[in-house]
Parts: sequence; C-alpha cells; structure tokens
Amino acid sequence: MTSKIRIGALISGTGSNLQAIIDACEKGAVAGRVEFIGSDNPNAAGLEKGKRHGISTFSVDYGAVIRAYYNDRAHAAVPADFDLDEIRSKQTLFSVDDEVDPDKVAAFLTSRAIAEARLLKEMIAHPFELLVLAGFMRTLTPYFIDRVNTTKDEPRIMNIHPALLPSFPGIDGYGDTFRYGCKVAGCTVHFIDYGEDSGPIIGQRAFPIQFDDTLETVREKGLAQEWELYPECIHLFAQGRLKTVKVDYESRGGMKAERTVVRILPPGKES
Ligand code: GAR
Repeated sequence: MTSKIRIGALISGTGSNLQAIIDACEKGAVAGRVEFIGSDNPNAAGLEKGKRHGISTFSVDYGAVIRAYYNDRAHAAVPADFDLDEIRSKQTLFSVDDEVDPDKVAAFLTSRAIAEARLLKEMIAHPFELLVLAGFMRTLTPYFIDRVNTTKDEPRIMNIHPALLPSFPGIDGYGDTFRYGCKVAGCTVHFIDYGEDSGPIIGQRAFPIQFDDTLETVREKGLAQEWELYPECIHLFAQGRLKTVKVDYESRGGMKAERTVVRILPPGKES
C-alpha cells in the first residue's frame, strides 16, 4: 500500500482545485494529506475552505511586499542568501531577445524573492513531500524553486494550468484558447521549472469547444476536468510513478536540444 504523502498548497483565489484535492485525500483517492495552505492574497476564499478542514493556513501579502519594494528599494528586506546574478542567469521567464529593461527584470526578480523568502519562512513549520500550486497566480523564481527542489532531478512543485500546454501559457488559458478560435480546450498538470508554464508535463485533459459554447461554459467544463486531473496526477506522485528523464532531440533548424519529460511508470514499477 502507498503511504500518505504530505502536501502543501499555494492558492490565490477561490480554491476549487484545492477543495477537489482535499476531498480526494479525505476519501482515499489520493494517498496524501494537505498539511498547509499558503496564499499571496490574504483575502483568498480558498483559505476559509482549508480552515473548515482544520488545515493550517497562512498568507504573505504579495501586493504589499511588492509595493513596499518599489517605494523604497534602498531599505528593502532582500534575503541575505539572494544572489541576483545567479537567479537572473537561471530564470527563463525573460530572454535577452525580449529586450526587457534589465533594471525592470532585476526589480521583478528581487521583489518576488523578498515575498518568496517570507513564504518559505512560513512553510518551514510544515514539512512536505509535494507542493501543489492550485490557482496560485504568481510566478515563482529560481530563488524559491531551488529551495524546494533540493534533490536533483526530483521536482516536487506541481501546477495546474487552464490550457493545453505548450499552447497558451500565462494568466488566462481558457480565455486565450477561446479567443483564438480553438476547437479543443483543455488543462495541463506539470512540474514547475524556471520558465512560465514550461515545465515537464504530467497529465492533460481535452474537450471539444462546441458551437454554442461561451468563454464561461468553456471555463466551467475546464474546471470540472481540472478537479479530476489534478488529484490523479498527485496520486501518481504519491505512488512514486512519476519519473523525469532527459531526452535529446534535434530541432527543425538542426539545433541540438534537451528536454526534461515525465515518464509515468506502470503500477508495480515505482521508483
Ligand atoms: C484554475 O482554472 C487554474 O487552472 C488556474 O486558475 C484557476 C483557479 O481556480 N490557474 C492558473 O491560471 C495558473 N496560471 P480555483 O482557485 O477555483 O482552483
């Protein structure tokens, strides 16, 4: 029998995915227990959902942290172990080709790391095997990711995204899918890497967009899929059936590249 893993969750809003995960844990469909719920938004409705189940909650007011940083950078509480050059060289959120002002990139990464250090401080009290982002609408920088992913090649931060990645990363997956005129929509669960919604894919669900669908009905159908997909992926993790492997390939232009992908091991072949 698979033993229960300890799960931490980060949310920003309603927390319907969080609720689905808590319910799946409680009925045994996920071999896990939600140990804490953190939020970047003190008013996130999902925090109340957690409290109703007796789960510890905390929030770090990202908005206030970021405002304080931009108002007075000289006195910002930058973590002592934050190395801007290191974080800038690892992240793939901004590329040189984007021609984003380097000072803006530095300010973005530094302000987020200040908030992330506060999240990490809250999380220390709650050991966990897996961290799930359940509608967490903030970009995590390598500062945070490296302090959670402490074992090489064993990622342990999962995210759910409301689109069929690698199409439509960003903040409005269903909206972007619908407005583009796609005939199929879907959702993706993936591990977090240093880019925007670019990490190794664990699971996906797709559904057709019908003639009379609206953005609202697409969102509703999508969320219903998310509530099934996310617990399934978490259970695979709990069973030790998610293995990341590096795959070499040649792009169309002949460039050699490497991609980390997830192999789902058959039952009985757990790592
Ligand atoms: C979900 O649709 C989730 O896929 C999306 O936010 C919604 C949260 O709903 N996440 C993202 O867009 C992450 N970039 P919920 O709070 O009811 O679970």
